[in-house]
Amino acid sequence: MILVTGGAGYIGSHLVKALLEKGENVIVFDSLELGHQETINVLKDYGNLKFIKGNLKNLDEIRGVFLVNKINSVVHFAGYSQVAESVVNPQKYYYNNVYGTLNLLNAMLEFGVKKIVFSSTAATYGEPQYSPIDENHPQNPINPYGNTKLMIEKIMDDYDKAYGLKSVRLRYFNASGASSDSRIGEWHEPETHLIPNILKAEKERTFKMFGNDYDTKDGTCIRDYINVEDLAEAHIKALEYLNLGGETNYFNLGTNTGNSVKEVFTICERIKGENIPIEICPRRAGDPAVLIADNTKANKILHWIPEKDLEYSIKTAYEYEKFNLH
Ligand code: UFG
Repeated sequence: MILVTGGAGYIGSHLVKALLEKGENVIVFDSLELGHQETINVLKDYGNLKFIKGNLKNLDEIRGVFLVNKINSVVHFAGYSQVAESVVNPQKYYYNNVYGTLNLLNAMLEFGVKKIVFSSTAATYGEPQYSPIDENHPQNPINPYGNTKLMIEKIMDDYDKAYGLKSVRLRYFNASGASSDSRIGEWHEPETHLIPNILKAEKERTFKMFGNDYDTKDGTCIRDYINVEDLAEAHIKALEYLNLGGETNYFNLGTNTGNSVKEVFTICERIKGENIPIEICPRRAGDPAVLIADNTKANKILHWIPEKDLEYSIKTAYEYEKFNLH
């Protein structure tokens, strides 16, 4: 069985769907603080899913999962991921992300489970020194969120050296889109991400564009938008890699291309077929001008090649917004 922590969340739920469609037996462990019971209900339609509500901060809860289930490998999504919140409340981030992961890793060691795929982030690189960013780029996070993810990566290295626990760390750039059948998608409360915020905008809730004076082609920030189903596929390949005896490793997951906030906005307007109310606002603190992945390493070693483009991601995100009114 594959244990997926945070499987009721955005990226985790897309992996769970893909695993179930492949006929895998999956256990989701999620506190439902940020994930949604509705997502679990939908996921149950795709295959053999067991859901356990629990919190990684409680060692006994996660130990209990290993005690009564035969788990072969773990995919670890559970964690807080809002950069701005991590700056004002670092305690919450270190306690949840780092301590929670330590409990998970310690339970894995106790029960002899030695394979984990972990959700890391481009935020571990900090302010880019060159672009596109490959895995040799120095890791200097500029906020507590990025620090927690980097700390976990380091803990995983040490646990491999000492205990032989093998990890694959996947450093996501900007996850985007929804499932091709529009049944699961991005659902954060509050929503901070670009595409859902543009799509949700209306008269009383204009889209706020954070800065149009960056040193980029049109003055707005450039990001690498990677489709969430392509991301899910990378996790499946990472699991296969570990199952074949692969060593601890880490990969950037992105598309090698960037799009500006203005470009994303224009595609959203076209897909929605209407003008979207927009307001130009000051820059958001901590936003680098450009973040683009070099994904060569994941192509070569995991044989992972993203297939879905930004247009497709926005179309699926729009369908999801239309049919899921939350
Ligand atoms: N943006 C807006 N208005 C909004 C939301 C976003 O203009 O309402 C802009 C941001 O300023 C940024 C771009 O759209 O330039 C993308 O912003 P997102 O918040 O969608 O994504 P980020 O690039 O800030 O964050 C993503 C992940 C984080 C991760 C980070 C790595 O969501 O988890 O990349 O830098 F930490």
